Amino acid sequence: MHETSGSDGGRPRARWTREQAASIERRRGNVAPAAGAPEIDPFPELHIWDTWLLRDRYGEIADVGGYRLAFSLTAPADLLPGKRHDVAEIRCFYSPDGRAWRDAGPVFDGGALGQRQWAGSALYDDGDLYLYYTAAGDEAADEMTYTQRIAVAHGGTVAAGEGGVELSGPWTHETLLTPDGEWYETEAQSRGMTYTFRDPWFFEDPATGETHLLFEANAPAPERPGDDAETTHRREFNGCVGIATSPSGDPLSWELRPPLLDAVEVNQELERPHVVVADGRYYLFVCSHVHTFAPGVTGPDGLYGFVADALDGEYRPLNGSGLVATNPPEAPFQAYSWMAFAHDEEVLVQSFLNYHDFAGDSLDAIADLPEAEQRDRFGGTLAPTLRLAVDGDRTRLRGTLDGWRIPTPDEPLPPADESELPDGDA
Ligand code: FRU
Repeated sequence: MHETSGSDGGRPRARWTREQAASIERRRGNVAPAAGAPEIDPFPELHIWDTWLLRDRYGEIADVGGYRLAFSLTAPADLLPGKRHDVAEIRCFYSPDGRAWRDAGPVFDGGALGQRQWAGSALYDDGDLYLYYTAAGDEAADEMTYTQRIAVAHGGTVAAGEGGVELSGPWTHETLLTPDGEWYETEAQSRGMTYTFRDPWFFEDPATGETHLLFEANAPAPERPGDDAETTHRREFNGCVGIATSPSGDPLSWELRPPLLDAVEVNQELERPHVVVADGRYYLFVCSHVHTFAPGVTGPDGLYGFVADALDGEYRPLNGSGLVATNPPEAPFQAYSWMAFAHDEEVLVQSFLNYHDFAGDSLDAIADLPEAEQRDRFGGTLAPTLRLAVDGDRTRLRGTLDGWRIPTPDEPLPPADESELPDGDA
């Protein structure tokens, strides 16, 4: 039993409220330009989606012998795009300049936990690698399952030389965190859509030096006597941003803490939570989908964000509603899994190209299209990088860079071209 427990216990937490989310709308400054089919696809033989960079403890993009490293969920491109989550495998890509990338291959040699591996983060600490990931599915089960736990691989090495970058095992895989049922919902407690407990993100707080793992989860929101059927159903949408702390700073030992933020009655999935510190403020970003909003709240697939004066909160939604970046209405599923990182005075946002030429309002319709079309409309590679200005509680898109463009923090960028940005609905 935690000292404080239950969905409404714990520290005074922030909640993304229905009232705040009611003002979500596409506006100039939160809509990315139409991208179309990929202009740059260095790995056409692979579907590539959620991507994260190797960083040091302080959040700086790591330099390994002159290369920066990206880790991505991948699957063979001949697979139907909708099936990729079932076979996801983490690969490493590396680049000397953040433009041209090469494939270092799958990072694990078969020993990873779970039936498949979903998103995570990668830490390079004093020459040691810690690859955090989601172990999805129960490896002991015969059929495919949706259990999720937070895992790490360590003990492997990275070598960089003239010939490129090589990661080698053996890796030690460990489960780090599972839901406790009090702050974080277990699979058995889940009443609605599939529960979430995934996407670990390493973060050291520059203000306190404390080490944390953020993750996507759900806050228990059980049926309450007296609630009407509508409220009971809304409470099935209970996404939260979880956090665990390592009191000693050891990247392998974590204790759960109460969620930083929840979205009970607003949204079921606050995906890939991560923090960017700018001007001493904490910008907490998550991705979410149109189909995971609770009944009565609408929002597009997008990057949503919150800001606070300390990591603990209390978080306020950016731009009033939380919406930071979304796709144009003519291609509402063009990109997903946005990941923001600081660059000089601005923030850059990397994502993957999803269904770039599909105007339907639900992805379910994709599965009705002929298979060749499903593949043609799916990017499966990195989308143009977005440039974002952050100023207090407000953000504004400023333009784009090429896909696969990951400049280092000190690299100067060309002037932003805001004329390429579309107007919104408002
Ligand atoms: C976001 C996401 C992650 C998960 C992965 C699975 O795109 O849903 O939360 O780790 O995709 O493919």
